[in-house]
Amino acid sequence: MKGIILAGGTGSRLMPLTKVTNKHLLPVGHVPMIFHPLQKLTQAGIENILIVTGTDHMGDVVGLLGSGKDFNCNITYKVQDEAGGIAQALALAENFCHDESMTVILGDNIFEDDIYGAVQSFGTDKGAKIFLKEVTHPERFGVAELDGERVVAIEEKPSNPKSNMAVCGIYMFDKSVFRIIRTLKPSGRGELEITDVNNAYIQENLMRYEELKGWWTDAGTFESLAHAQKLVDPNYGGGE
Ligand code: G1P
Repeated sequence: MKGIILAGGTGSRLMPLTKVTNKHLLPVGHVPMIFHPLQKLTQAGIENILIVTGTDHMGDVVGLLGSGKDFNCNITYKVQDEAGGIAQALALAENFCHDESMTVILGDNIFEDDIYGAVQSFGTDKGAKIFLKEVTHPERFGVAELDGERVVAIEEKPSNPKSNMAVCGIYMFDKSVFRIIRTLKPSGRGELEITDVNNAYIQENLMRYEELKGWWTDAGTFESLAHAQKLVDPNYGGGE
């Protein structure tokens, strides 16, 4: 199992905090945001991790994380030239993964659950797995339509969500993800969407899901970044 952290994008929703640095280098708790997904992957027993980020701040990301030896893993880096979406960033991982399955975490997703069990049990399985969490504002996320134990479809930021179950930025895929990405067309916002990848697995009857038990948030807006701070460090803002 390989690990991938997608840390691209322009961070436009956090301007001007992201004018001179990458969103994933901003603090969450006592560490830069990207430490959180990295720790989740290494705790899950994943040793080889690819980080994809844009050209603007790649130097800072490499300066921070280096070879990975301080984190007990090996880190490889890939540059995403333009912000063309999560699925486009993931396509850059094809040579890195060879034929192995992968766990992908979006660099701004901060969560409590330990994914060790899910990673180990996915093993060399065919297909994909997503993680869902009940939220109060599903329209901000990919939203799962469920029929009992089955995910029927995922809608990206729907105005009339069919459930309160957000699709978290934590995904497990087999190697066929790269074949699927090659079939995608850019969405209305001009991006190759990870939701379209997941819907392709659903169509092929190869999608499973798990609900996260602990807290989960992204940290890509001012509100959610502040929320992430409080979740990671409940005393945040309480001192002098
Ligand atoms: C992305 C995905 C969305 C998912 C979210 C989780 O949204 O497109 O499906 O629910 O991450 O953080 P974005 O943050 O790119 O708007």
